[in-house]
Amino acid sequence: MSDDAPIIELRDVHLAFGEKEILTGVNLRLAPRERLVVLGQSGSGKSTLLRLLLGILKPSAGSVQFQGREVSQMRRRPLNAMRQKIGMVYQYSALISSLSVRDNLALQLEELTDKTPAEIDALVDEKLALVGMADARDKMPAELSGGMRKRIGLARGIIMDPALILYDEPSAGLDPVISSVIDQLIIELSEKIGATSVIVTHEMESAFRIATRIAMLYQGRIIADGTPEEFKKSADPVVAQFISGNIDGPILEGGR
Ligand SMILES: Nc1ncnc2c1ncn2[C@@H]1O[C@H](COP(=O)(O)OP(=O)(O)O)[C@@H](O)[C@H]1O
Ligand SMILES: [Mg+2]
Repeated sequence: MSDDAPIIELRDVHLAFGEKEILTGVNLRLAPRERLVVLGQSGSGKSTLLRLLLGILKPSAGSVQFQGREVSQMRRRPLNAMRQKIGMVYQYSALISSLSVRDNLALQLEELTDKTPAEIDALVDEKLALVGMADARDKMPAELSGGMRKRIGLARGIIMDPALILYDEPSAGLDPVISSVIDQLIIELSEKIGATSVIVTHEMESAFRIATRIAMLYQGRIIADGTPEEFKKSADPVVAQFISGNIDGPILEGGR
């Protein structure tokens, strides 16, 4: 595969839950090392999009490819192999409260690789250092602040050196200062490990800080896709309303 072959490609992806159509023709192509922010209202299908990429959900029509292979046709082994290349950072860190920071980070390495405990310890320390949390190694999640837990969540997301990192609302529930620290960390991590990132958010400030590219999901489709500068200048009334947070405009409450 050449260097600029897409890491992800979605073509005319449809997805419905029962009668309810969530995605109605999504097209998206992601090149290595891009940081794509997916914007959209609450309920617009952003988390659903991430689940499609992980192969947890299957599209009702259309194609989802990861590194040139159709995700929905992967059997268990290739699917697991693919998931090892994808790091997931969840909205509320989702750390296991009964496990120490070290053990939370070690879990995937213990389950999915044949690395020795010493090798695992070294990787855990390396990732903790990357997020500035080396001292938290032996702490329990409950001993940490929300921002610290989020950093640990980021460290866990990159523990397998993923080619692709998916972030679901990474700054949800954080105050503005901690939120911009996390945004900065997302940029640094993507650069340090050379990963491609998809960041789902509804926070405009974060979006403009992090993104090399922004896509907006609205009524089941990507209605705008471009650089942050293009986004700011967009003449699309839906995009303009979303950026400004105006009450008046075409966006309806509930969004569908
Ligand atoms: N497993 C599911 N079964 C039925 N409906 C779902 C399921 N997952 C999500 N939905 C619905 O799909 C819509 C999009 O959800 P989601 O992708 O979580 O939105 P977002 O992340 O943009 O807030 C919502 O209306 C949600 O209620
Ligand atoms: Mg969501």
